[in-house]
Formats: sequence, structure tokens, C-alpha cells
Amino acid sequence: MSTMRGLTSKLVMYENFWYMTNSSIFRNVLSIQKNFVAKDTDIFITGLPKTGTTWLKSLLYAIVNRTNHPINQSPLLSHHPQELVYNLESDVYNEAFDYPRPNNLNELPSPRLLSTHISYMSIPESIKTSGCRILYICRNPLDVIVSAYYFTLGFVKNTIKDKDDQDSIVLPRLEDFYEDFCDHVLEYWKASLERPDKVLFLKYEDLIDHPVLHLKRLAEFIGMPFSSKEDNEGVVQQIIDFCSIKNMKGLDVNKNGVINKFFEKKSYFRKGEVGDWANHLTPFMVERIDRLMQEKLEGTGLSL
Ligand code: A3P
Repeated sequence: MSTMRGLTSKLVMYENFWYMTNSSIFRNVLSIQKNFVAKDTDIFITGLPKTGTTWLKSLLYAIVNRTNHPINQSPLLSHHPQELVYNLESDVYNEAFDYPRPNNLNELPSPRLLSTHISYMSIPESIKTSGCRILYICRNPLDVIVSAYYFTLGFVKNTIKDKDDQDSIVLPRLEDFYEDFCDHVLEYWKASLERPDKVLFLKYEDLIDHPVLHLKRLAEFIGMPFSSKEDNEGVVQQIIDFCSIKNMKGLDVNKNGVINKFFEKKSYFRKGEVGDWANHLTPFMVERIDRLMQEKLEGTGLSL
């Protein structure tokens, strides 16, 4: 572990990642490592913020619960996806908030649907050694940075009222952001090659282009394949349409209110497009990021 002083806060490097020591997330990660015990039946959604994790939460929830709830009575009509698939570091092991969250993870129905943004290196050992399944989602980093920019902008405007304080926010250097981004993706990519029955690597762009194919793949991976009867009845397409950004964004439950005290529910649904980066980034930035990515991904068999 090493430390470094930034302009406004102290950072700590822990297992390859930088954390702000004044944010609760670092403490939460340590608490998860110490206390969380995975069950063989757990299903985890992993991935960096802004890579499509909310979408994947709604898809996973709808697939797992398709026999309990017809889609027109889905709890997704009355709950934001973040409220149905709990995030370990923000919802379950978060000392900073006292909003309702499951006190006892054992009370969650089986399979427990959980999520985390923690890197593969830092997730608790029991997640790696148990039979639980991990779904990892990644996305073109250029689109991630644009998505993160808008999300952060909204968050800063809502929570920091003083303009000078807003201006004093220090964003990470692009090089540091992409270094962390690639390390995160590559750790899970390697795990998916080594343990293909336990770690499924998904790309946001593939889900957009071939949703039926990838939903079937996902359902098989978690041991709940669609039957031919369901196939004939169009169940897969129903789930895709229900979880589409157009539908989710339009639901009242996702339009108002906040999650984790600060994050507006609607801010999780913006455009949901591939290639929006072209409207925002300069050719110079794109070239710089592409170069960084090529260096990091060379020889790994992964392209983003
Ligand atoms: P954009 O900001 O590019 O629109 P996360 O959920 O991991 O924070 O990722 C948020 C990104 O996923 C946002 O991207 C958001 O609009 C997009 N998204 C949310 N729901 C989606 C859905 N149902 N289909 C496609 N994209 C979705």
C-alpha cells in the first residue's frame, strides 16, 4: 500500500487501485473483504461505473424472476434496478448511509443478485472460490468517459451548491483513469478465460447489436436457459423491450427521487447509445486514448 497527496484529498493505492481516503468506499471495500461470504448460488454483476451495469441489473433481474412475475407485474415497474440488485460497497457495506438496505444478506431470496465495482483482485476470496457466477460488463472507454462526465456533472450540481467548491473538483489525469480502467477490464477478462463457467465477459456494444443472442447466452450461463416454449412465446424479446432505455427511462419510478442520498434516479438513464463520444471528444483526445488503450491491450486478445 502506498499513499500520494493530490490537490484536494489524500489517495491511497490498494491492490492496484487508487481510492480517496476521505470517501467511505475504501473503508467499505476493506469491510467487504473481511465480512462478505459468497454462496454458490449468488450471481454478481461486476463492471466499472457507466459501462451499462444498471441495464444489466434490469436484464438479470427480469431473467431470473421471469416465472415469478409476468413482465407486466414486474417489481421493476415500482423499483429502480439499483434497488433490486444491491451493490456491495454502496448499499450493503456502506457505513456512510442509513437508508434502508438489507441488514442480513441471508434474507435475500435465492439466487442472491448482487453487484460490485471492485476489481477482480480485490473481491473477497469466497467469490472466486465458491460456485457463484460473475457477469462482467465492459464498454468502449471513449463512451464511458463521456457518460461519466455527464453523470458527475449532474451529481456535482446537485450536491455541491457553492460554485467555487464545484470548480475546485480535481478530476483524475486521463492516463491514470485509463490505466485503472484497463487493469480492471483485463483482470476480469483473464478470469473469464481461465474460468469460463464462472465468469461471463459481456460487452455493452454486443448487447446493443445482438440482444437476443447475448440474453440467451446469459440465461444459459446462470443455469436458467430459455425453453423453446418461451422462445416461441417471444419471452426473450419481451424482456429486451421492457429493459430498453426508452421504456426504463419513461417509467415514473425511474424519473423522480434519489438513490444513496445523492444520485438522481433519472441520471442512470441518459442516451444509451454507442459512439456518443464522437459528439464530445476532440480528435486529439481520441488519438491519445486510443494509443493508451492499444499499449495496454496489446497481446491480450481483447479489443474494446
Ligand atoms: P450514457 O451516459 O452513454 O447514456 P451504469 O449503469 O453502469 O452507470 O451505466 C450508465 C450508462 O448506461 C449510461 O450511458 C446510460 O444511459 C446507459 N443505460 C442505462 N440503462 C440502459 C438501457 N436500458 N439500455 C442501454 N443503455 C442504458
